[in-house]
Amino acid sequence: MKVAVIGTGYWGPNLIRNFLALDEVESVIACDVDASRLARMRKLFYGIETSHLYNDIIDRPDIDVVVIATPVSTHHEIAKRALLAGKHCFIEKPMTASVTEAEELIAIAEQKGLKIFVDHTFVYTGAVRKMKELITSGRLGDIYYFDSVRVNLGLFQHDVNVIWDLAPHDLSIMNYLLGQKAVAVSAIGSCHVGNGLEDIAYLTLEFEGNLIASFHVNWLAPVKIRRTLIGGTRSMIVYDDTETSEKVKVYDKGIDITTREGVYDTLVQYRTGDMLSPKLDQEEALAVGTRHFIDCLLNEETPMTDGQAGLNVVRILEASAISIKDRGKLVEL
Ligand SMILES: NC(=O)c1ccc[n+]([C@@H]2O[C@H](COP(=O)([O-])OP(=O)(O)OC[C@H]3O[C@@H](n4cnc5c(N)ncnc54)[C@H](O)[C@@H]3O)[C@@H](O)[C@H]2O)c1
Repeated sequence: MKVAVIGTGYWGPNLIRNFLALDEVESVIACDVDASRLARMRKLFYGIETSHLYNDIIDRPDIDVVVIATPVSTHHEIAKRALLAGKHCFIEKPMTASVTEAEELIAIAEQKGLKIFVDHTFVYTGAVRKMKELITSGRLGDIYYFDSVRVNLGLFQHDVNVIWDLAPHDLSIMNYLLGQKAVAVSAIGSCHVGNGLEDIAYLTLEFEGNLIASFHVNWLAPVKIRRTLIGGTRSMIVYDDTETSEKVKVYDKGIDITTREGVYDTLVQYRTGDMLSPKLDQEEALAVGTRHFIDCLLNEETPMTDGQAGLNVVRILEASAISIKDRGKLVEL
């Protein structure tokens, strides 16, 4: 297969490296409007073909896959062009800048029998795959909540706010792990740089039943925190992505509730047992994700993070933008 990677800024070179490492990929062409980025790619990847004209590259009959690693505002235009030219698409997160755009791409792909993969990279990490295994096996019991914090200093983006930049990671992890669709979102946020783009935000998601999820994303934090708590009736998980080892810890902690007959109050008893830190697969998530995508193309299977998974995240992002404008108003999904 021949792969064209469009956008070779911060993330693009990681994609080029991982696609080049796959046996099924014969060659990669790097494409960017910025000539200095292309010069850098020729230095990093000896012999790589480069181009600054993405339209010409997309039209080439020898290209099978188009990888889109440009700013979010350009994803829809480039992906639509690629799908209409009959190419499978690997699109960076977030899939598009709106629900309408994502729906249109899914419809074109279906019509043309093409595949869309959305790069929700964290879904392919050993840590998230292990947590999925634990939740599916019933180890956590019924889930009470999903609570995540992703904060650091910068990198300020010029076209999207902190929610569109950072929350796709946590929302895609949550959607994958819980397998339930949120029914409403409320978000508040504020901007401190004067460009109108929120740099701090808090999101709350409601589900059917009493499951609740919360997200804190922030570009103005003095330290890097990447921590998720998942509480269940049987045990609870702390996932700390900044840890080099023991990223996932499973605590046999929780509460047992007894209601005394004839008495109106309930008794809450605390349970504190062992902590287990399971062994995790250390393979680079992007290597697992790119291989999975190529396998899906060869075996006619649907990627774990397909267009629908991308749309589910964009739907929450779009609703959160509406909620922020209305100072945290609950928006139905
Ligand atoms: N999956 C992840 O963990 C992860 C991490 C970082 C970024 N991303 C995503 O990757 C995408 C790119 O982010 P980045 O941080 O690399 O941005 P960046 O600004 O560093 O790079 C974008 C590149 O695209 C080029 N470009 C812009 N418009 C173009 C066009 N029309 N044709 C060709 N090239 C064009 C720019 O010149 C630039 O080199 C975003 O969607 C971002 O959310 C994903």
